[in-house]
Amino acid sequence: MKTAILNGSEIDNREALHAALAEQLDFPPYYGKNLDALYDLLTEARGACAVRIEDAPALEAQLGDYYRSLLRVLEDAGVSYEIQNQQKTRRRKQIVPSCNHPAVDLTLLEPTLAQYASVKGSLISILQKTQEIYGYVPIDAVYHISQRTGASPAKILGVATFYSQFRFQAIGKYLIMLCKGTACYVNGADRILEAVTDELGIHDNETTPDGLFSLSVVSCLGCCSLAPVMMINDRTYGSLTPDKTRQILRDLRKEAEAE
Ligand code: FES
Repeated sequence: MKTAILNGSEIDNREALHAALAEQLDFPPYYGKNLDALYDLLTEARGACAVRIEDAPALEAQLGDYYRSLLRVLEDAGVSYEIQNQQKTRRRKQIVPSCNHPAVDLTLLEPTLAQYASVKGSLISILQKTQEIYGYVPIDAVYHISQRTGASPAKILGVATFYSQFRFQAIGKYLIMLCKGTACYVNGADRILEAVTDELGIHDNETTPDGLFSLSVVSCLGCCSLAPVMMINDRTYGSLTPDKTRQILRDLRKEAEAE
C-alpha cells in the first residue's frame, strides 16, 4: 500500500496539497490541480493507498475550511488516513480557523437553488450566488448544493477551486484591497502594507481574529493617479501614507464598535 505523507511545512495552498497527493501517490501532476479528478483517482485507489497527515494543526491552519473538505474527500473515496502530531503547534495564520467556522443559514440558498438546481450547467451561477450571499463559499453550502443538484461535493469543489473568483474563507466586515500594482508600488505601497500589518496583525489573505478586517493584496484597482491606493469595501482611499492608513483603520474600528 502506498502512503502519501502530508507535511504541513511543505504545503501552503490547495494546489500544493493536490500536487503533494498526486506526486506522492504517483498520479500525473495534472490531477493535482483538480479535486474532482483527484477524488476519482483516490476512489480508484481505494484500499491501495493511505494518507498520513503528519502535522494536522499546521495543515489545518494553512488550508482553513478546505482541510475539512480534504478529510471528507478521503472518507468519501474510502481512502484510509491517519492524523499525527495533533498537539504539535506552529505559528498559525490568523485566518478564521475552520473549527470556529460560523454556522451558515442554508435557507438563504433556497431561492437560488429553486431557480437553478435543476438547470444543467448552472453550477458556476449557483456558486456565484452563494458567494454573494455569504461573502465566500462555505463548505456546508457545498454539501447542501450537492444534495440539491446531485453533483458530488468533489465536483463542486473541483469547479470552485478552479476559478480564482471564489473564496473559501469567511471575510471580515471590512475587506481591504491593497494595491501593489506598478504605480502604487513605486509610490510606497510596501510601506502601506507594513502599516496595515502592524496595525491589524494580518498579512495577505488573512482575517483579524475578531472578524473585522480581511486583507487582500491586488495588482491594480484602476485608479493609479491616486497611488498608493487601497479600497475598503466600496470606498477608495488614495494618496495614502502609513499614518493616514493607520488612522483610516482606527476610524473604521471605532465605527464598528459604535454600531
Ligand atoms: S497600480 Fe495601484 S491602482 Fe493602479
